[in-house]
Amino acid sequence: MSDKMVRPLLITIDGPAGAGKSTVAKIAAEKLGLPYLDTGAIYRAVTWLLKEEDIAPSETTNIEAALEGISVSFSEDRIAVNGRDVTDEIRTSDVDVAVSSYSALKPVRDALIGLQREQALKGLVADGRDMGTVVFPDADIKIFLTADAAERAKRRYKERLARGEKAEYEEILKYVNDRDLYDMNRKIAPLRPALGCVILDSTNMSIEQVTDVIVSLAEELRGTRVN
Ligand code: DC
Repeated sequence: MSDKMVRPLLITIDGPAGAGKSTVAKIAAEKLGLPYLDTGAIYRAVTWLLKEEDIAPSETTNIEAALEGISVSFSEDRIAVNGRDVTDEIRTSDVDVAVSSYSALKPVRDALIGLQREQALKGLVADGRDMGTVVFPDADIKIFLTADAAERAKRRYKERLARGEKAEYEEILKYVNDRDLYDMNRKIAPLRPALGCVILDSTNMSIEQVTDVIVSLAEELRGTRVN
């Protein structure tokens, strides 16, 4: 290699709930030796914090104060907010129901953008809703991963049953549709394919097939590009 440095790859994966983003992102990151960032978990952690402090989505000043100097840290598969491990708390239905409302707010998104960018110094596979459109518009590879709502609801339903939880398919389908609509129609950083992204519809694809596409794109780029 020349004395030029190989720039670490930045890969974004956006898409609606249940498209398989985090599973695929985690595997692709491991195969490519890159860190993985689950930004949905960050929005969930902030939602947990604001609910814990009894701050409603309408209380802009209180939200700004609560998020000033917020710290979000990751270790293995755990996430902590202001030093408190909230890995289990952020997956409860309380957080599920509230996360879309809090994550649509400007003070919340403003507080988290720098924090997400800081994670990208050594390259990254980041999944979320606005990774390729807002947070990392210059990413090397941008993926928009989607699937039919019925298929996504079916996956969530099976996941819940596998965890031994109660699940109603119709209820999950409604939740998936409602959350998509909300995330796509919000004013700030709505869910939509980024300019120059590769759109992957995983309805009839396995996790391995989706991961292979992303890893191949990354390897192709790595083989050809030095800064
Ligand atoms: O990926 P997830 O289901 O854990 O995300 C939870 C919510 O967080 C989702 O409804 C929208 C929001 N979110 C966001 O607004 N922007 C991101 N980059 C990631 C998630």
